[in-house]
Amino acid sequence: MSTELVPWVVDRLAALRMVPVVVIDDAAHADRLADALLDGGIACAEITLRTPAGLAAIRRLSHRGDILVGAGTIVNPDDVDAAVDAGAEFLVSPGFGIEVARRARARGVALLPGVATASELQAAVAAGISSVKLFPAEALGGIVMLDALGGPFPQARFMPSGGITLEKAGGYLDHPAVFAVGGSWIAPRAQIAAGDFRAITESAARTVAILEIGVSRVDRS
Ligand code: 3PG
Repeated sequence: MSTELVPWVVDRLAALRMVPVVVIDDAAHADRLADALLDGGIACAEITLRTPAGLAAIRRLSHRGDILVGAGTIVNPDDVDAAVDAGAEFLVSPGFGIEVARRARARGVALLPGVATASELQAAVAAGISSVKLFPAEALGGIVMLDALGGPFPQARFMPSGGITLEKAGGYLDHPAVFAVGGSWIAPRAQIAAGDFRAITESAARTVAILEIGVSRVDRS
């Protein structure tokens, strides 16, 4: 396989810098969730397939055009098809699987596979993927792990997630090999389920301000 597939998605994620990882229990909440994120200045979301509502939520958001929508928890080739059919513009996996990578390539969609070891990163790079998710970032040692993997794999670019808080996100974003950070603190599952979208907007706005990620409000007129 050749080099990076669908590089514009990685470029866009690199511009956005922060990817809210979302677990949604009711697809009817999807639009208000997107509004809440956008009102706080964040124009993307990774909707995980950990719940049955995930695909329907992706379907709703992919029609809007004002928010970049990805699918998370892609663990097999059927998930790739389901997420792409629902309109996901990028896919995120917790780990690396060659069948998932092959299906993503066949469907022409960007896949950010999870890596937790040098072996997994080596397999991803061999499959032509050098932009990956470092997962679970904090449990792996965080920045220290990024530095260690960056030695043998200078071409690798990372989206760390797993255990990252707002307090720690800035340190990751300062790392030259990090293009974006993922995390669930902006839109926690319980707040979405409770319909507390005001809290999500506040959290997004606080994240944008503290990380100085400079994402301006999206013009939705
Ligand atoms: C992920 O899938 O990226 C993580 O579950 C997000 O991790 P967090 O909930 O610790 O932010």
